[in-house]
Amino acid sequence: MDKKITVQDILGMKGKRKITMLTAYDFPLASLIDKAGIDMILVGDSVANVVLGLDSTTKVGMTEMIHHAKAVTRAVKHALVVGDMPYESYQLNPKESVKNAKRFIEEASCDAVKLEWFQQCLEVTQEIVKAKIPAMGHIGLTPQTADKIGGFKVQGKDAEAAQKLIEQAIALEKLGCFSLVLECVPDKIAQIITKKLKIPTIGIGAGLYCDGQVLVTHDLLGLFERFKPKFVKQYVNLSALIQKAIEEYKKEVIEEKFPSREHTFTIKEEELRKLE
Ligand code: KIV
Repeated sequence: MDKKITVQDILGMKGKRKITMLTAYDFPLASLIDKAGIDMILVGDSVANVVLGLDSTTKVGMTEMIHHAKAVTRAVKHALVVGDMPYESYQLNPKESVKNAKRFIEEASCDAVKLEWFQQCLEVTQEIVKAKIPAMGHIGLTPQTADKIGGFKVQGKDAEAAQKLIEQAIALEKLGCFSLVLECVPDKIAQIITKKLKIPTIGIGAGLYCDGQVLVTHDLLGLFERFKPKFVKQYVNLSALIQKAIEEYKKEVIEEKFPSREHTFTIKEEELRKLE
């Protein structure tokens, strides 16, 4: 468990066992996820929605992503850490994409970067791979450009749209991506892509046939209450537990039950008397 997972390890898992991946944006959750033996941790731009209270992932930039990625890599001993390239870092500024990808590796100690599909995706991915930075692709529902693909909807639902996804997947593999996120894709299309590729597919809302699965950790822990997509399974409702604990604290402070003796420092009576 102490050995750090490499890109080669991830490639070798295809067809042998399912790959696990979760998001993390800070030290405590990254540490718990790593101790649970999850294979890959994504410092996702979903930090915008689930931590920063923003309404779009396009609203986080390199400054925020590097800050969060550093906190994650400080905690992780085992998992492969993937830094999610924010919108401005490669879609708004394609010429800056290699420099920004390098910042994830050199400044934040990530092991790889992830890029969502967009018009110039192939050119940008090629440059990043040429710079020897391990790259993970992301096709299907790409939240950074949701406005250009009909909104937050399942993608590849007819033969023509599905064919485009298959072609994107093959092109990204050819360029040297080491894995591919498939988001909100019909399960049978994810199965076709998974069978066609030698690199592993990691699904989110893409069914059981992918080589691995990723979820936003705050969704599975019940820590994000604004909306819950169909593909999310909430394993625990931490929001309810946290709310209850905070209300209990408030009540105990008001009722002078906290701090009790066990949480209080004391001074000897004789020392106190010297002050009188
Ligand atoms: O930012 C993110 O959390 C992601 C996952 C949904 C794959 O890109």
